[in-house]
Amino acid sequence: MMGKRILLIVGGGIAAYKSLDLVRRLRERGFSVRVVLTEAGSQFVTPLSLASLSGQEVHQELFSLTAEARMGHIELSRDADLVVIAPATADLLAKAAHGHANDLASTLLLATDKRVLAAPSMNLRMWLHPATQRNVATLRGDGMLFVGPGDGAMACGEYGPGRMAEPLEIVAAVEAALAGDTTIPLPFAKPGPLAGLRVIVTSGPTHEPIDPVRYIANRSSGKQGHAIAQAAAAAGASVVLVSGPVTVPDPAGVNTIHVETARQMLEAVEASLPADIFIGAAAVADWRVGAALAEKLKKGASGPPTLGLVENPDILATVASHAQRPRLVVGFAAETEKVIDHAQAKLARKKCDLIVANDVSPATGVMGGDANTVHLVSKSGVETWPTLPKAEVAQRLVAQLAARMGEGGA
Ligand code: C5P
Repeated sequence: MMGKRILLIVGGGIAAYKSLDLVRRLRERGFSVRVVLTEAGSQFVTPLSLASLSGQEVHQELFSLTAEARMGHIELSRDADLVVIAPATADLLAKAAHGHANDLASTLLLATDKRVLAAPSMNLRMWLHPATQRNVATLRGDGMLFVGPGDGAMACGEYGPGRMAEPLEIVAAVEAALAGDTTIPLPFAKPGPLAGLRVIVTSGPTHEPIDPVRYIANRSSGKQGHAIAQAAAAAGASVVLVSGPVTVPDPAGVNTIHVETARQMLEAVEASLPADIFIGAAAVADWRVGAALAEKLKKGASGPPTLGLVENPDILATVASHAQRPRLVVGFAAETEKVIDHAQAKLARKKCDLIVANDVSPATGVMGGDANTVHLVSKSGVETWPTLPKAEVAQRLVAQLAARMGEGGA
């Protein structure tokens, strides 16, 4: 769950003090946490505490020109992998159930394309009131997830249901929610040649640790893979992008899973199956250090260390021979010589349907650049495209894949 981003809305309830601990617990587990504090919430905890614990600016106002200039509220609502409301007060739930958008928190809840996990907290009569129960049923129907409330003694002196779940229970619910697809599809089928299809794309390099500070990597920027994920989403597909460490932003409308190593990439890809199309555009490191060191390697009298390398799993070959093999499996072949020969060999060896081959010798500037010259190699032959911007290569590739799917397979 390293690197997953949580947008935490802190509502106005006495349980808000537990949300301070929740921020710590989430960060301990490697999540980044951006906090939105409602006006009522700020009566219970201060923006300064939340900013110190989250390490990020706390957002409070809908119509704040300065905050809006740095990050617009729509972007704020989409930038996270999961939205968490803790404490979720009766008022926040009522607003969300009825689609109000009259402050920052309610506007974000209406504008987000991500799942929302609510940790309700309120007096037991407020929780048991038919109005609240109606709102919760409506929100469940809309896809909102809930953790708690539990039974127990309340700050108001009564005893019963309404106590906010403990921070560690909320963390467990966050992890469970993130294990599934957290992007909420639009309620109408997106038109396009890939409508109704599921596509998995890998992109970027992988980082293979040597010790806590060093790693093995390559020059892949993720530009081509990300452009393909975006083009597939624009063509109506539901897209999971499994990305290694890159600096390019997550494409809009795509469920992006961030990983570091080849093994994590394989795990995320397998967890995302079944799919109709798999596109392996990542430059997966072929080898990793067999036993990465827990402590930083030191220079010493014994001379340079020997890195015992072991082979990484081949994600493309694994998917192509998987029990849940997608109908179309597409690989990339980045070569510096005999581009087409190598691509043809790879097509057969990895049992994929199509190889997109490109010349990445340094003179071409493909690695990290914005243009690409590719050859499409399949059983039916080789098709060479002119040098095109990566976004256009992506669109053409997606159109070609849609045509192949339409023909009833590879
Ligand atoms: O074998 P080579 O790395 O040249 O093959 C490139 C293709 O195989 C790419 O599509 C890449 O994403 C995929 N690959 C993989 N897992 C590996 C190595 C490569 O999925 N361990």
